[in-house]
Amino acid sequence: MKQGKSKLGPAATLSDTPDPSGSGKPDSGPARRVDVLRDKLRYHAHRYFALDAPEISDAEYDDLFAELAALEDAHPELNSPDSPTARVGAPPSELFAPAPHLRPMFSLDNADTPGELEEWAARAARHLGREAGELVCEPKIDGLAVSLVYQRGELVRAATRGDGAVGEDITANVRTIASVPLRLLGAAPERMEVRGEIYMPLGAFARLNERQAAAGERLFANARNAAAGSVRQKDPSVTAGRGLAVWMYQLGFTEGGPRLSTHFQTLEMLRELGLRVNPEARVVPGPREAAAYVADILSRLGDFEYQTDGVVIKVNGLAEQEDLGFTARAPRWAVAYKFPPEERITRLRNIAINVGRTGAVTPFAVLEPVFVGGANVGMATLHNADEVARKDVRVGDYVVVRRAGDVIPEVAGPVPGRRTGEEIPWVMPEVCPRCGAPIVRPEGEKVARCTGGLACPSRLREWLFHFAGRAGMDIEGLGYKRIDQLLNEGLIKGPADIFFLRAEDLEPLERLAELSVANLMQGIEAARDRPLARLLAALGIRHVGGTVARLLARRFGSLPALLEADQESLAAVEGVGPIIAESVAEWASDEENRLLAARLGEGGVRLSDPEPEGPPGRGDLLAGVRLVITGTLETLSREGAQAAVEERGGVVTSGVSGKTSALVAGEAPGGKLAKAESLGVAVLDEELFLRLLEEGPDVLEEGQAPE
Ligand code: IVH
Repeated sequence: MKQGKSKLGPAATLSDTPDPSGSGKPDSGPARRVDVLRDKLRYHAHRYFALDAPEISDAEYDDLFAELAALEDAHPELNSPDSPTARVGAPPSELFAPAPHLRPMFSLDNADTPGELEEWAARAARHLGREAGELVCEPKIDGLAVSLVYQRGELVRAATRGDGAVGEDITANVRTIASVPLRLLGAAPERMEVRGEIYMPLGAFARLNERQAAAGERLFANARNAAAGSVRQKDPSVTAGRGLAVWMYQLGFTEGGPRLSTHFQTLEMLRELGLRVNPEARVVPGPREAAAYVADILSRLGDFEYQTDGVVIKVNGLAEQEDLGFTARAPRWAVAYKFPPEERITRLRNIAINVGRTGAVTPFAVLEPVFVGGANVGMATLHNADEVARKDVRVGDYVVVRRAGDVIPEVAGPVPGRRTGEEIPWVMPEVCPRCGAPIVRPEGEKVARCTGGLACPSRLREWLFHFAGRAGMDIEGLGYKRIDQLLNEGLIKGPADIFFLRAEDLEPLERLAELSVANLMQGIEAARDRPLARLLAALGIRHVGGTVARLLARRFGSLPALLEADQESLAAVEGVGPIIAESVAEWASDEENRLLAARLGEGGVRLSDPEPEGPPGRGDLLAGVRLVITGTLETLSREGAQAAVEERGGVVTSGVSGKTSALVAGEAPGGKLAKAESLGVAVLDEELFLRLLEEGPDVLEEGQAPE
């Protein structure tokens, strides 16, 4: 069990929680704190387990729980049989019949670091008087625990965990879950109880929230809440439509059935009986290898179709498990290694705005910093004004911050239960705080824009960063910091100035050593020779990203030729619609942009491509084909796949729509697959995709188009 207060979030987060107890005892010190903690834990456990409406994150709950457990360990005189540490959940709600468990359903103690895992194994060895031996590692599924009872092979009861002793009878609802066998395969024991986790696959979760949004209903904050809400439906046909699934991971008890000596054998037996057992389960020799398993799962989090919040590590030997037994709340033979939380609750200090290179004004949250998804987060995106309004986040709110893996942190929503009434709704400012120009939002558009043009320092800086960045001219050594320096020193005022910089100009700059001057000059020299498509993408013309830039480069061959093209000939390019054509024509007619093009040429930037590319005869094999690529392909990188399509005259876009010819789905396809399925767009696996590149559009017919 992790210790005490060390991991508590900012003090304000907890002390500002409305005190649900109202006990107001005058004494202070550990006794008072124990009371406060017990009241808070009861309140939040009830919200979580009985109402499916948590107000604090799991991690905050765990922190409170750990603090209480540590205080009780240090002050045994304060122990009480009704402490939340003496039980594992909340009492069952009244909607479902009580289902007493034949063996109590325990919770798990946590380990948060490889060191704590070693300590757990060492404790087990001390308790046993010998090494605990092999361990089994399994992903910890973030769903809700279920107990299934089979009698002579037939499912007779399904129950939630409830308070560990008595759960809720959810048999009728669980019978609708396709991966729960109603009858076991082969020779089933006389009576058997198995435990596992009900969860909502992420595709089903995305679809459910889409339906909720379309119906104007409340969105579910995460797949766990959605699963819990779906299981607790009065009408089993509602549950049936939610696409729930299970992983089974533990034998409760058997009467009859084979003698087994390890947990892993148990898992194999469960699988043979037709129960769904996670194929990621592994036997490892000890805690060090278990820590390596944890790191491996953590690195592949995005690949799973379920939400996993850690790894459960169990002693493999059943004799050892028996000898180890249980504490008051958890088995000694198992431990949960929790990943850093992906969601945290913190305070929203302010909503500020950021002006991007196209002038787009994006609101973002300024947060009281929290540790979430393995990093400290002080800022999170709020996307646009509509999102702020839809989520109804107000300055001063407690908000749920989410960050999974490398994803940009975002504010999922407010915690309305923690409002004091002093929170301030946000409105988009009328003028740009950086340049004072009006901010406008054209009708029908989601995005508000600063009208200050490149006189807006914020916009200029972002544009330069984009121009020099990976998606643009890819100038080595020219990142935000250096761009700021050059702007501040007045050495550049726009992108073309970069190509007039001389080493002598740079040398006096503070902190710019000789070597980095040479590197930067080399980076600039290399950028003079980039393909035309890169230059076009770098210019930051609205709607012209990498794909459109390549189409334009192939059709026009040079920047001067593009400047002369009229809107009609632009719109005639396959893959370039009227909106893009208009935007390019508008850009080209602006005198400043024409001067920029000329000055880039003077600075030595190559404005044309030498030869039209693409192998002869293939140029229009995929003409008129629009693809979206998702997931990981085995034989091609994403860029490689896109280039292969474009070389053949096809188009690759980022979002699935009714116009998409097919979705190419690699490993771990994510939400786009669900979207394609819902629109009836054909789906190609890698093999079909490779054939499409060889044989052309006939192959599209073979992509399954779900009904
Ligand atoms: S074993 C006696 N294995 O995590 C304990 N639990 O935080 C038996 N959970 O109550 C639990 N994945 O609801 C076990 N592979 C797994 C699990 C798992 C998720 C849940 C379970 C448990 C909770 C503890």
